[in-house]
Amino acid sequence: PQDVGIVAMELYFPSQYVDQTQLEEFDGVSAGKYTVGLGQSRMGFCSDREDINTLCLTVVQRLIEKNNIDYRMIGRLEVGTETIIDKSKSAKTVLMQLFEDCGNTDIEGVDTTNACYGGTSALFNSINWVESSSWDGRYALVVAADIAVYASGNARCTGGVGAVAMLIGADAPLIMERGVRSTHMQHVYDFYKPDMASEYPTVDGKLSIQCYLHALDMCYEKYTSKAIEAGIRDGNSTLDIADGIIFHSPYCKLVQKSFARLLLNDFLRDKNPDFQGRYSGLEALRDIKLEDTYFDRSVESAVMGASKELFATKTKPSLLASNQVGNMYTASLYGGLASYIYSEKLESIAGKRVILFSYGSGLASSMFSLRFSSDKSSGGALASLVSSLSDVKERLDARNCVPPQEFDSNMKLREQTHHLAPYVPVGSVSVLTPGTWYLTEVDSMHRRKYSRQ
Ligand code: ACO
Repeated sequence: PQDVGIVAMELYFPSQYVDQTQLEEFDGVSAGKYTVGLGQSRMGFCSDREDINTLCLTVVQRLIEKNNIDYRMIGRLEVGTETIIDKSKSAKTVLMQLFEDCGNTDIEGVDTTNACYGGTSALFNSINWVESSSWDGRYALVVAADIAVYASGNARCTGGVGAVAMLIGADAPLIMERGVRSTHMQHVYDFYKPDMASEYPTVDGKLSIQCYLHALDMCYEKYTSKAIEAGIRDGNSTLDIADGIIFHSPYCKLVQKSFARLLLNDFLRDKNPDFQGRYSGLEALRDIKLEDTYFDRSVESAVMGASKELFATKTKPSLLASNQVGNMYTASLYGGLASYIYSEKLESIAGKRVILFSYGSGLASSMFSLRFSSDKSSGGALASLVSSLSDVKERLDARNCVPPQEFDSNMKLREQTHHLAPYVPVGSVSVLTPGTWYLTEVDSMHRRKYSRQ
C-alpha cells in the first residue's frame, strides 16, 4: 500500500474547565505563575461520570459517525493510555461493544502503555500493520486518551483530560514519512505510577523536564541524520524542512523552550552559522554543550529570543488545545496535531510537512514526520480531514467554566471513590455534551455499566 497514514481524526474533551487565573488565586500562588510562567489558560477536567472507557467510547463513536464509516471496515483497533482502571482487561475490549450490532469481532490490537507515549506506539503499530503482510485491506483505528490528574500541589495545574481517535489507512491525506522515524528510550524515574490504589503519579518535576529536553535533543539529532540520508534535508537547518513542529505538551511554556532548543541544535550543527541573520546574538554559545544547558537561563533567553518568530509560525498554532485543556497525556501530541490542522486552510495545508515529537516519561520518546497530500479538491480526503476539525475552537469556547472550589471538591470525590465498588456516580449527566458516554454504575464485582447522552 502507498501513502499510509491518517485518514480521519477526532478530538474530544469534556464540557467543563477551570480558569487558570482563578486557580492561581485559589491555590495562593503569585498571579501569573500558571498563565504566564507555564503558559496555560484553562484546564479541562471530568466528574466521576467519565472514565477512560467513556472517553474512548465517546471519541470513537464521534469519529465513526462524523466520517460515515462502516464498523465492519475496521480490522485493527488499539488504545494508547496510562489511565489504568483494570490491570487485565483492556479499554479496547470495552470498545468492542460498539461493534456488536454489525457483528465484527475480527479486530486485532489491545492497549499500549508507557506514560504519554502509548498513543504514538499504537500509531506506529497501526501504520506497520497496514504496511505488512498481515494487512487485510481494512482500516486501523488508533485511540489516545487520558485523564491527567495530580495530587494537590505544584503539579496539579498541569492536569487535563482528552481523547483523540485516528483512522489509519492507505492513500491517506496525512502520510507518515518513511525512513526518518527516530527513537530515544531510557530507564529513569521522572514520572511513574507505582501506587495502584491512587490515580496520581509520583513526579520529580525538575527531572521530568530535564529528561524531556534530553530526549528531544537525542531524537532531533537522529531525525536530522536520517533526513539528510533520505535527501529531505538539503540545507543547513532541520527547522527549515518543517512547516509545522508539534510537541507533546505538558504545558505550553515547555514547548516554547523546546522549540528554541531545536534552533540551538541546528546552530551547533551548522558549520557556518549566519550571525547576521537567524543566529544573531548567539556568538557566545558557539562552544556550549547541550547537556550543560537544560536549566541555563542565559542560554534559554538567548535562544528563545532568536527563535521567537519561527515559533509563532511553526508551533504556536498547534498549542490551542494544550492551552485550553491542559495536558491530555497520550492525547496531547495528537490534540496538537488537530489544533494545527484547525489553524490551517485546505489551500495552505496541502503538501506541507509537520515534524512531531512524542515523549512519555520513564522514558520512551520518538520524532517522526507527516506530510499532507497535495490534493486540494473540495471533495477530497484532505478537504474532509480539514473540515472535520473546523469546529475545535467553537467546541472549546462552548464549555462551562467551573469555579476552582468546585474543581477541588470534584478532585476530593475522585480520590475517595476511585476503585470503590459498588458505586453509583453522582456527577451531573445533563452537563455532558450530546453523544458523550458516561458511567451509570459500578457493581459489587467492579463491572462498569455505561450509557450515552
Ligand atoms: N509570573 C510569571 N511567571 C512566573 C510567576 C509569576 N508570578 N511565578 C513563577 N513563574 C514562572 C517561573 O519562573 C517558572 O518559569 P521558568 O520555568 O521559565 O523558570 C514557571 O513559572 C514555573 O514556576 P516553577 O516555580 O518552576 O514551578 P514549580 O516548580 O512549582 O512547578 C512543574 C512546575 C515542575 C512543571 C510542575 O507543575 C510539575 O511537576 N508538573 C508535572 C510534571 C511535568 O509536566 N513535566 C513535564 C514533562 S513530563 C510529562 O509530560 C508529565
